[in-house]
Amino acid sequence: MGDPLSSLKVVTVVGARPQFIKAAPLSLALRAIPGVEERLLHTGQHYDPEMSEVFFEQMGIPRPDYRLDVGSGTHGRQTAAALAGIEEVLLAERPDRVVVFGDTNTTLAGALAAVKLHLPLAHVEAGMRSFNRRMPEEVNRVVTDHVADLHFCASDTAVRNLAAEGVTRGVHRVGDILADCVRVFGEAADARVDVAGRFGVARGRFALMTCHRAENTDDREALARILAAVSRVAERLPVVFPAHPRVRAAMEGLPVGEAVRVTPPVGYLEMLALERSAVVILTDSGGVQKEALYARVPCVTLREETEWVETVEAGWNVLAGTDEDRIVRAVEAFLATDPSRLPDTTGLYGDGHTAERIAAVLAQPERP
Ligand code: UD1
Ligand code: UDP
Repeated sequence: MGDPLSSLKVVTVVGARPQFIKAAPLSLALRAIPGVEERLLHTGQHYDPEMSEVFFEQMGIPRPDYRLDVGSGTHGRQTAAALAGIEEVLLAERPDRVVVFGDTNTTLAGALAAVKLHLPLAHVEAGMRSFNRRMPEEVNRVVTDHVADLHFCASDTAVRNLAAEGVTRGVHRVGDILADCVRVFGEAADARVDVAGRFGVARGRFALMTCHRAENTDDREALARILAAVSRVAERLPVVFPAHPRVRAAMEGLPVGEAVRVTPPVGYLEMLALERSAVVILTDSGGVQKEALYARVPCVTLREETEWVETVEAGWNVLAGTDEDRIVRAVEAFLATDPSRLPDTTGLYGDGHTAERIAAVLAQPERP
């Protein structure tokens, strides 16, 4: 590993929207440590400007040192292309640490490439489980957790999930790195973005929605029920719906109410500003469920399970699946609730300084 105090090289592997966002604070923290060099590798799993470039611009993420342009494809093709490309970079760089985030095909490819080369692997957002192996993300997480050397967990639940699978070494309970993003970018978002003007809605008078999970977009009947439910919600409250390209394509030909404002995906500052000024959020995103909690906005999750169980236990999140009436009832129940009466969850997933804690562990000279 060379002289650990004079140089330590980290390769950070990203490729999908939430990974660019999570990499922003970690890159900053890593590059602040003397002697640590970071190389950023972008697999190109996400490539549209509004799914990739906008985050680098808005969040000051360093330009990737490597771009693989793997693009879209079946799980096998996409993962294989990323695996082959990442391996080449790792062979050339021979880093001291490889970092992967979350649960996408980019995560899995990065993990496999690293461990096969015997390079120490760190997993950010380790231990999250839905216990639904039909989700591609669940498979990606389980495999990654079982080959990683360092496990950075957002919650006690994640630590327990790992322990239940026999993973107890190298486990660090560091909090949620998305809380860092909210801490760093929240005020800038509020100050810079005129949400009402841009989306034709008034602050505190609209619902925000996102939907992109394969289980919802690839099941036409489930998607039709979700759209019928939000169309009903929109009769009472306009709905802003920044649509992931996956759902945009899947919605083709399905009816959507006029007051549902379907827009292209928005930048991170716009998204934070929208979340902070919505009255209720409907989503199947992992990240957005937590951001709703941080914004103190109730959340209706369009799934039957969540990895972020604390949000549900605290009363800020309700699992509504894809049943039309259930979704509408969940929204109505929240609209009838005064959110100031819901519990204070400050610090539930850490204090917004997760990236510094991860960087400090990564920079320790001993091989994990
Ligand atoms: C992926 C992750 C998911 C994560 C999500 C974040 C996997 C298996 N899934 O899902 O866990 O929550 O990213 O957003 O890795 N597309 C475009 N332009 C783009 C990117 C995608 O048009 O820039 C379209 C393509 O038609 C593509 C489809 O979206 O086939 C799905 O993209 P993909 O990266 O395979 O999965 P996501 O649904 O984005
Ligand atoms: N996000 C964004 N613009 C959008 C939708 C989402 O910036 O139009 C951000 C959101 O604020 C969160 C992250 O993307 O930080 C969540 O990513 P996504 O929902 O794609 O994936 P998941 O978290 O479900 O893996």
